Amino acid sequence: MTAVLTEPAAVRVAGTRHLLSSEDLDRPTVERLLELAASFEAVAEREVKKLPTLRGRTVLSVFFEASTRTSSSFELAAKRLSADTISLKSSGSSVEKGETLKDTLLTLDAYGPDVVVIRHAQVGAAALATRYTRAAVVNAGDGAHQHPTQSLLDLYTMRASLGRVEGVHVAIVGDVLHSRVARSNIALLLACGAHVTLVGPPSLIPRGIEATGVSVSYDISDIATADVVYVLRMQRERMLAGEAYVPSLREYTLRYGVTSARLRPGQVVMHPGPMNRGVEITDEVADSAASLVTHQVRAGLVVRMAVLYDLLAGPEGAA
Ligand code: NCD
Repeated sequence: MTAVLTEPAAVRVAGTRHLLSSEDLDRPTVERLLELAASFEAVAEREVKKLPTLRGRTVLSVFFEASTRTSSSFELAAKRLSADTISLKSSGSSVEKGETLKDTLLTLDAYGPDVVVIRHAQVGAAALATRYTRAAVVNAGDGAHQHPTQSLLDLYTMRASLGRVEGVHVAIVGDVLHSRVARSNIALLLACGAHVTLVGPPSLIPRGIEATGVSVSYDISDIATADVVYVLRMQRERMLAGEAYVPSLREYTLRYGVTSARLRPGQVVMHPGPMNRGVEITDEVADSAASLVTHQVRAGLVVRMAVLYDLLAGPEGAA
């Protein structure tokens, strides 16, 4: 039996077999997923927060990179839908003994999971995973490439806070170059009719990115015209040793740190976490009423419930 080693059928997207990239999501699909997520809010308010929908299904998550929010919310989302869950982190697993992505997935696929949620430092890891499992694969972050559920929860949060995404102006500030969150958000925001300005030092903004339809500014004062200031973490672990992207973190903070003085009333501030307080964002801003950070975390749960539901029990997922 060679089935697990054959190429997957063409990657179908939400409503779908796999969720690998925000670039695969069209606006009606995004709207459907966000509506579905909103319908799960009521469940989160109940005393008994569980639905029987995915009883007997198995959600496996494999995190080869650190995670707090994404791994915990996928696990809780699966449990709230009554699925069985197995959650593996590279530390403490045989990955530490040198077991490869391929062997890890082939091993875990033997349990017959229905969904595999994967995070890995390598670009394309989630797409590769589709070769080694028959399950639906959800990309929970592959290097600096994509993190589609993060962008879905961010759009959910913006819609809940501002009432719409269409026409909203989002300034994405900081280390765009190394950020899968930025790449996923740009694709989804543009698909849903938002305006995007990338703000940061030239060394951290990918050259030629204007071709995707975003604006670019190297001047932090330009965040003043945005409705949403979306702050990115400085991705120090993805910066090549010895390559200086910024003169120093102190210099970066002085020129591009998001401070109360740089914001205007009425703006909301978002950050995917984990925050480097005092580097890309001040404590004051992070803890202010304008900050939607905890709303983002709450949205992560219902949005991931929606993604799991859609893959396994949605109109096409039941197949
Ligand atoms: C992000 C990630 O891992 O891509 N975090 C997250 O999923 N909430 C952002 C980051 O690490 O900066």
